[in-house]
Amino acid sequence: MRQIYLDNGATSFPKAPGVVDAMTHFLANVGSNTGRGIYESSFEAEHIVYETRELIAELFHFPTPSHVIFTKNITESINVILKGILRAGDHVIVSSVEHNAVMRPLHALASKGITFSKVKCSTEGVLNPEDIRQEIKKETRAVVMTHASNVSGTILDLESVGQICRDNGIFFIVDAAQTVGFVDVDFQKLQADAIAFTGHKSLLGPQGMGGFIVSEAFAKSMTTFIEGGTGSLSDRETQPEYLPDKFEAGTLNIPGIYGLHAALQYLNQTGLENIQKKELHLVTQFILGLQEMEGIRIIGKKGSKERTGVVSIDVPEFDNASISYQLYAKYGIATRCGMHCAPSAHETLGTFPQGTVRFSFSHFNEMNDVTDALKALKEIISEQQ
Ligand SMILES: Cc1ncc(COP(=O)(O)O)c(C=O)c1O
Repeated sequence: MRQIYLDNGATSFPKAPGVVDAMTHFLANVGSNTGRGIYESSFEAEHIVYETRELIAELFHFPTPSHVIFTKNITESINVILKGILRAGDHVIVSSVEHNAVMRPLHALASKGITFSKVKCSTEGVLNPEDIRQEIKKETRAVVMTHASNVSGTILDLESVGQICRDNGIFFIVDAAQTVGFVDVDFQKLQADAIAFTGHKSLLGPQGMGGFIVSEAFAKSMTTFIEGGTGSLSDRETQPEYLPDKFEAGTLNIPGIYGLHAALQYLNQTGLENIQKKELHLVTQFILGLQEMEGIRIIGKKGSKERTGVVSIDVPEFDNASISYQLYAKYGIATRCGMHCAPSAHETLGTFPQGTVRFSFSHFNEMNDVTDALKALKEIISEQQ
């Protein structure tokens, strides 16, 4: 049976051409650590790591590659940022469609005297940035927000949020897990202080690679999450204060960085506009097909504007998990069901506690994936009736 992979919102597959070769090349031919050796292979690894910082900085229109910090994923990035910046008594504002990568650290920080308020999005997942103003108090230190919901695919108007943060002297931290590699994410236009990313979704890189970008002032206000060897200032027992070393203790995931490097080169060659165009075409056709079916609720926006390649549906008469299971068992179509680690998003979108079946496309999908998924869904639903 042909497998149709429609779970790119969880992690993209296939990865970009060149990723496997780049990782294999590192492991087979290079193998060295960075910043710690005075031999050729160490210089090569160092060069690729630096170039990857440059590619990431360019992608986010950020001028300083040394402010690109590597982590293992965006969850780690968000933990490092939140736990590094927030102090007892601080208040944080989030949207009601955040992933648990944001919500769980904030709940954990409650025991340290940090509070948060949620700004409710509409049932289509749309944020009214003006609602943020009502939640601002004198203790508000940061707004932390996803750029797009991983449940509905709705993109939030973060440029307006960034302006509100600037007007009120509040830090602005962005979770770009669902957008970078699909839309242009511009650090300056968003007026962000920190943007966190993960390498294995739309960036088309391997798992185990993520990071964040920070402004100078924000990085200075942050404390470190872990400390240790950096290969720099090794005569001292204290962590270097400069970037990226301040936040990169221990050996990096260098095979992962080689993979991400290849993925970023592929994205540059292909062009974000082309990726977006193809993905949105597939999504639009998929939504049009869904709209012709009885008994399906399309969650979030129905059009192709301000959305990503994620489409969630709820089939109120049936069990969503069973539909997702049958899509795979009978038709080889991989989707994701349940809460997608974002319970508050489901409460907002009216899909709590039943969850949704999530179809998430990449530009590697083709039109026959869309038609096969629609046909399979139709058959499954008609068999249950
Ligand atoms: C919006 C959002 N934030 C954070 C994450 C967590 O990503 P990772 O598991 O790579 O840390 C995800 C993953 O689904 C996500 O969709």
